Amino acid sequence: MTTEPALPDAAENGSTDAAADGEQHFRAPVSFVRRGSRLQGRRQQAWDELSDRFVVDVPRDEADTSVHPEYVFDAAAEFGRTAPLVVEIGSGLGEAVAHAAEQNPDKDFLAVEVYLPGLAQTLQRIGQKGLTNIRVVQANAPEVLSTMLPAGSVDEVWVFFPDPWHKTRHHKRRLVKESFAELVARVLVPGGTWRLATDWSDYAVQMREVLDASASFENLHAGEHVGDQSPLTRVNREGLENKAPQDEVDTLGGWAPRFEGRTLTSFENKAHEAGRLIFDLAYRRI
Ligand SMILES: C[S@@+](CC[C@H](N)C(=O)[O-])C[C@H]1O[C@@H](n2cnc3c(N)ncnc32)[C@H](O)[C@@H]1O
Repeated sequence: MTTEPALPDAAENGSTDAAADGEQHFRAPVSFVRRGSRLQGRRQQAWDELSDRFVVDVPRDEADTSVHPEYVFDAAAEFGRTAPLVVEIGSGLGEAVAHAAEQNPDKDFLAVEVYLPGLAQTLQRIGQKGLTNIRVVQANAPEVLSTMLPAGSVDEVWVFFPDPWHKTRHHKRRLVKESFAELVARVLVPGGTWRLATDWSDYAVQMREVLDASASFENLHAGEHVGDQSPLTRVNREGLENKAPQDEVDTLGGWAPRFEGRTLTSFENKAHEAGRLIFDLAYRRI
């Protein structure tokens, strides 16, 4: 899922839609590309059997991944109880969130994903494991964070292996940036945690820069894994990620230990097989 399909110009530059009255509406570039939404076989079956119960039925605004700004998620009503809420953004095929929900029956989980087959696969896992403490929503994450979730209602936000958008001209499409950090800060309870992971060093550095600069977060592992202990130093020295080796030492560190609550997904495994290192980050909402 790290491949970045060629984009039409409109998508690359942020879309400008001419409204009926001739006015131009500009939308911020989104962090995803539309992919096939056809369901077949077991995924279709899981969708037919489980979507009524586990998919949050969101009123839309314009796009089919949008969230109507007046809609507010009521976790207590949805889960029938009050429990710590964990939100995974870009849950992909649902490996991490379904595993975590199984391991933590005392917490509730919301998986946010735009890719319909990924959500159907997540439903399949929910059915196989007989989970009750998880819901999924097909929606653009910034809209979920800006209006759908009440402020201060989430205990943890997870962003694991977001699309890297390698090309410099695509960096504006990366999910983790200043405006997104403000939205995460909005939904987290004071003392809540934002966990991130990526297998690309320059995105890891961007994440660290964005969160260190934010007055809303403090690094739970400030100064750790620095110098020779830093995965960034290793990427530089060993010339990983197809870079030319260079003796540039990471004097800042701040990388978290691997998050134990994240099961080793096939996605993370592929990164290992390709010789890439994993960068974990964990920040506390001040
Ligand atoms: C590289 S995949 C990683 C999936 C998963 N976290 C894993 O580790 O296997 C990134 C996922 O984020 C989803 N995504 C990207 N932008 C999104 C957005 N704005 N809202 C919701 N999901 C998004 C993509 O559809 C994709 O499934």
